[in-house]
Amino acid sequence: MSKKSQKFEGDPKTTGHEWDGIEEFDNPMPRWWLWTFYATIIWGVLYTIAYPAWPLVNSATAGILGWSTRGDVAAEITAVEEANAPVNAKLEAAELVAIAGDTELNTYAVSAGSAVFKTWCAQCHGSGAAGAKGYPNLLDDDWLWGGSVEDIHATITHGIRNEDSDDARYSEMPAFGRDELLEKEEISQVVNYVMSLSGEPQDASKVEAGSVVFADNCASCHMEDGTGDRSQGAPNLADAIWLYGGDYATLTETVTNSRYGVMPAWNTRLTEAQIRAVSAYVHQLGGGE
Ligand code: HEC
Ligand code: HEC
Repeated sequence: MSKKSQKFEGDPKTTGHEWDGIEEFDNPMPRWWLWTFYATIIWGVLYTIAYPAWPLVNSATAGILGWSTRGDVAAEITAVEEANAPVNAKLEAAELVAIAGDTELNTYAVSAGSAVFKTWCAQCHGSGAAGAKGYPNLLDDDWLWGGSVEDIHATITHGIRNEDSDDARYSEMPAFGRDELLEKEEISQVVNYVMSLSGEPQDASKVEAGSVVFADNCASCHMEDGTGDRSQGAPNLADAIWLYGGDYATLTETVTNSRYGVMPAWNTRLTEAQIRAVSAYVHQLGGGE
């Protein structure tokens, strides 16, 4: 038997729903709540018209205001570029060697150059510029192609042994073993001689014969005393700093097959101001001349 709940005079109408004798009053929504509800619907519709909203197959509706997060970033970049335009112009107009002497310009160049380095150079030269096998350390004063700010600027602008720039630094060490320019025994002799130049332990009985092989085949690039030639990017072999490695096996590999270190040209990817900034940055790392 269902118990009907007690009715009082003045009770609101009920919806007619009833559970276990409990009935639901049909109270109207408060007005303020209803209007807020309508306002959010209107706001929602206007928002989807004004801003990017409805997903389509490959994109979304753009919205009549034309706003986008990408556009926001682009505007920020433009604003920074505009703010830096005067100092970049000054950097491009300055004499390369004069930059280090202009404290304000140099501070800007070094910090901008450090950002360029982290973005474009760290993959090969390491985030701290200490290099890796085949990628020279830029912190020391052992330079393949030269450590003045002008030399560094030229190296970065055109790169090394690449196909992007006709002015890229270029030289090629012969592959003495692969191209049968030297016998295996002669390679072993010259490698022992090269090791003796930096005082590494070596087979002393081969050093003298190796010095003859060196004078005939290597001195034209690496110089009589093995100290290298920057105009050909031929490394100093007497300073115990190695680009590829100074142990017997690595040296034999270098002389047998030679190496061909490639660095891209940057004048197609960076602005002149960026190249100057990163040149100033590299120059002040410790080895600049
Ligand atoms: C794809 C790898 C790669 C990237 C990226 C790269 N380099 Fe290099 N860089 C090299 C190699 C390899 C050499 C050495 C080539 C050789 O054997 O002569 C080199 C050489 C150099 C040298 C000459 C060092 C010397 O001893 O004379 C400088 C300076 C230099 N890089 C600066 C930079 C700067 C600055 C950037 C960024 C804008 C950069 N490199 C980006 C690979 C790279
Ligand atoms: C035509 C010039 C040329 C001649 C000749 C030449 N080299 Fe080289 N050598 C170079 C260049 C340039 C490099 C740097 C290659 C690179 O980085 O890709 C190099 C690199 C080397 C290296 C690597 C050094 C390091 O730091 O890892 C060794 C070792 C070397 N040469 C030994 C020799 C020996 C030994 C001979 C003679 C048998 C010889 N070279 C003849 C130009 C030459």
